Amino acid sequence: MAVKEFYEFIKKSQRTILLYPNFKNNIGSNRDPNLRLAEAKGLARAIGLEVVYAEVVNVRAPKPATLFGEGIVRTFAEVVSSHQAELVIIDSSLSPIQQRNLEKAWKTKVIDRTGLILEIFGERAQTAEGRLQVELASLMYQKSRLVRSWTHLERQRGGLGFIGGPGETQLEVDRRLISERIAKIKKELAQVVRTRELHRKARKRVLYPIIALVGYTNAGKSTLFNFLANANVLAENLLFATLDPTMRQVSLPSGRQIILSDTVGFISELPTQLIAAFRATLEEVLEADVIIHVRDITHPETEHQKEDVLSILSQLGIEVDYNPNLIEVLNKIDLLPPESVLKTQTQDVLQKVLLSALTGEGINNLLKLIQTKLGSSLKTFTFDIKSSDGAALAWLYQHGEVLERQDQDEKIHLKVRLTPANWSKYEKEYFKGKNSFNFNDVTSLKEF
Ligand code: GTP
Repeated sequence: MAVKEFYEFIKKSQRTILLYPNFKNNIGSNRDPNLRLAEAKGLARAIGLEVVYAEVVNVRAPKPATLFGEGIVRTFAEVVSSHQAELVIIDSSLSPIQQRNLEKAWKTKVIDRTGLILEIFGERAQTAEGRLQVELASLMYQKSRLVRSWTHLERQRGGLGFIGGPGETQLEVDRRLISERIAKIKKELAQVVRTRELHRKARKRVLYPIIALVGYTNAGKSTLFNFLANANVLAENLLFATLDPTMRQVSLPSGRQIILSDTVGFISELPTQLIAAFRATLEEVLEADVIIHVRDITHPETEHQKEDVLSILSQLGIEVDYNPNLIEVLNKIDLLPPESVLKTQTQDVLQKVLLSALTGEGINNLLKLIQTKLGSSLKTFTFDIKSSDGAALAWLYQHGEVLERQDQDEKIHLKVRLTPANWSKYEKEYFKGKNSFNFNDVTSLKEF
């Protein structure tokens, strides 16, 4: 309820002013503020806001009360009024007090970067879990800002109000309602996560390897996903076209089945409370056998974007420095001039692939690399098991991918794909020279 009103309020605020505070003392951040402003514009447009004015504002010393100095606050009061702006987005983090004071000074709604990202997530969440996570994150965010934002929302509600117990102020009622809603969402979320857990276990049982696509927003994940899966996933030139992981079963050219998973796009400075809220959404990445990091190499800040993605992956507990199962895709090579150094550079063929998700150039190299990676983790073994040994047979079906079975007189001939770890377990438990007549490592994956 509260969240819905919050979103409706934002949607009405079409005429938007966007300010990117460029902190002068921000040592360590050498990113081009104009590119940051452009990114924020992209984010705002992604939810249909009309950006009528955008500017990088230099901030020498952030003021606890208003972030900007008095002069800047006054100047922008005029800008807001002359542009008849209904919303100001500050592309940074604002304290509730700063937000309230700026709203008073500019007589308009003000949101910060977290508010904007929540808004985008809210629009794009597709699955039940995604929606619940966004609502939870929104409620937590609003709860911390209740003192401020509620006066606005009350006006928006047009006197509908809530009926509270005797002596309860509106603020207390609102706090209580939000807390109740949070508790309810947490319960629903736990249920949804349990269901998903079951699905994941089912998938693990069939032993299809999971290949997860990650990358900066707009890097081309959905486009690559579509190309590989030939699936109908929304791919458009809007940031965050994907929020919830989209899974598809895909055949590699060798015939091997994999599960391809598309994930939400990363952005720089993703607020911590959102990382936590979306952790479950990104859990697929934690379980992935191969992670494909898709990069837009034509973006001027492609190196910074790479750092952002790797830093978030590593916050999620993924090894990023020496991870043999992390593939880097340098996407959009069709936009590079033919003489580009990148194109002729010797590639790190074991970790990197240059390609164009749009034209398909180089995609075969990616498929080959995926197969090589998977081939090194699963091997094919043949077994001849005594027909009476039901336990060994059941174990192989449970832990391996049975490719072939021939029932003969007293034995069953099987061709099974197993991880080396599972082979060792099998050998210890069942092989011991008594039940299985022979084994051999038949092959790694077929070439194509
Ligand atoms: P989010 O959902 O925001 O995380 O974005 P994404 O990484 O899924 O990007 P998406 O696939 O939606 O692509 C973003 C834009 O880049 C779209 O306009 C694509 O057409 C374009 N694009 C993707 N790959 C290529 C490519 O190889 N070459 C060119 N020229 N454009 C590409």
